This record gives sequence, structure tokens and C-alpha cells, in this order.
Amino acid sequence: MKRIAIITGATGGIGRVFVKKISQMDDIDEVWAVGRDKEKLDKLAGEDQKVVPIEADLGSEGVGLIRDLITANAPDIRLLVNNAGTGYMGLFEKMEQRDVLAACKINCSVPSELISVSLPFMNEGARILNISSASSFQPNPYLAIYSASKVYLKNFSRALNFELKSRKITVTAVCPGWVDTEMLPRTRNGMSIRYIGMIDPETVVKKALKDSARGKDMSVPGAFAAYFRLYSKIMPTKIVMRQWGRSIKQYL
Ligand SMILES: NC(=O)c1ccc[n+]([C@@H]2O[C@H](COP(=O)([O-])OP(=O)(O)OC[C@H]3O[C@@H](n4cnc5c(N)ncnc54)[C@H](OP(=O)(O)O)[C@@H]3O)[C@@H](O)[C@H]2O)c1
Repeated sequence: MKRIAIITGATGGIGRVFVKKISQMDDIDEVWAVGRDKEKLDKLAGEDQKVVPIEADLGSEGVGLIRDLITANAPDIRLLVNNAGTGYMGLFEKMEQRDVLAACKINCSVPSELISVSLPFMNEGARILNISSASSFQPNPYLAIYSASKVYLKNFSRALNFELKSRKITVTAVCPGWVDTEMLPRTRNGMSIRYIGMIDPETVVKKALKDSARGKDMSVPGAFAAYFRLYSKIMPTKIVMRQWGRSIKQYL
């Protein structure tokens, strides 16, 4: 039986690093790399023979495609990394309805469904990593849907980790602050955007894999995210939201 890892958002900044690191693991035979961008997927597969490119739009029929592949191959799923995500910075009321639905689907429903279809194919020691965000530490105006969806993923991960202890399966919510990837716009209205405490994707992935191997239900990479987590716990939410709102509003 093939021992596999499934990584969504494999073509993005954090996903590509997950693919690279996980394909180096001796106990993984195949890395199923999921994304929409065929060119980037083919490049990943060309660089590493363990990589199996899976072109799938998770906003439409993508989960069904992955479910069919799992059922047909009946692999031993050692790792599932729910990394694909979508974000929108701005006023909620200016968001297109289809973007609202896509954000809820890709950030919440898709990871939940993928876990549900994967669990029957997971054994003791299997690991699930869900890429949440430091945005889950408090409500974020101008990232309203995004931060709410990341709260869902964080709480779902931690509760599921508790439930799956008896099967010795670990679920980890990964909560980075700003990460240097294509997801972040660099300029807005002619202004360059400053991302405080931005870290590189390698730091996120290295810590996430280490924390999940240790059985932790949370992974918070970088000093800024760790500080922000503590700050959001001790400060009144209204104050944190006001500060956040001001820091983002200047760019809108
Ligand atoms: N960058 C940050 O500051 C930051 C901070 C905290 C958390 N995160 C989280 O980290 C995760 C990875 O983000 P990133 O920073 O690496 O961003 P990224 O470079 O923009 O990558 C996003 C990935 O999601 C995939 N994706 C988006 N919509 C999809 C869809 N409909 N179907 C299939 N795949 C889809 C993209 O695949 P295709 O391009 O192939 O469609 C891409 O691989 C996300 O969940 C994000 O919320 C990011």
C-alpha cells in the first residue's frame, strides 16, 4: 500500500515548501500536489519524482476528484495538509457574492470534506495540518470573512485533535502572521503596504511539521504571531480591532 501525503495549495508560496519538505521524508512514497495552475504543478512534478500533480479547482468539483482518486487507489494517507486558501482585503460590502462563497468554501468546507474523505484511509501516526492564520486570534475588520474562516479552521482542528487522540492521529492548526508569498498585495492605491513581522514560508513549514510530529494542536511560527496571540488574549477585543482596523484602513 502506497504511503502518501496530500497537499492542497501546492502551487502557492507555503504549499511549494510543504511539497519540497514532505517529499524528502523516507516514510512517504508519493506526494499528491493539488492546485489549479497546471504549469506550476508540472514544474513541481518535474523537479521531484515523488510528486503526483493533481489539477483540481477546489471551488467547484475538486474535492470530488480527490475523493475518487483516494477511493480508487486506497492509499495509506500519512499526511494531509489543507493549505489552499483565499483572502480578500477590503470592505465586506464591496466583495462579489461569488468571492464570499468561494472564501467560505475553500477556507472552511473543503478542508472539512477532505478530512472526512481521508480519515477512513488514515492509520495510527497519521497527521493533518490545517493552515489557519494569526487572523484567527481576533476579529479582523477589512479581512472579515478571512479571519472568521480561519477561526473555524483553528477551532475545528483543535476539537478534532482531541477526538482523534484514541486513534493516535494528530490535527494541528498552523497560525502564521504575515508570510512572504504571492497572496499578499505589495501596493494599494499607489502606497506600498508594510507587513509587520513578515516571515518566510520555510519558517512556517519547518515549525508546522515539527509541532505536528510532537502532537501539538497549534503551531504559531514567528515572534510576531506569538506576540499577537498573547496580546489578543490579554487586551480587550474592541481595542485590538480598532488598532487593526486603523492599520489596514490607510491602504483602502
Ligand atoms: N501569506 C500570508 O501572509 C498568510 C498568513 C497566514 C496564513 N496564510 C494561509 O496560508 C495558506 C497558503 O497561502 P499562501 O500564502 O501560500 O498563498 P498563495 O501563494 O496565494 O497560495 C494559495 C494557494 O491556494 C490555492 N488555491 C486558491 N484557490 C484555489 C482553488 N479554488 N482551487 C484550488 N486551489 C486553490 C492556489 O492554487 P492555484 O494558484 O494553483 O490555483 C495556491 O496554491 C492559505 O490558507 C493562507 O490563508 C497565509
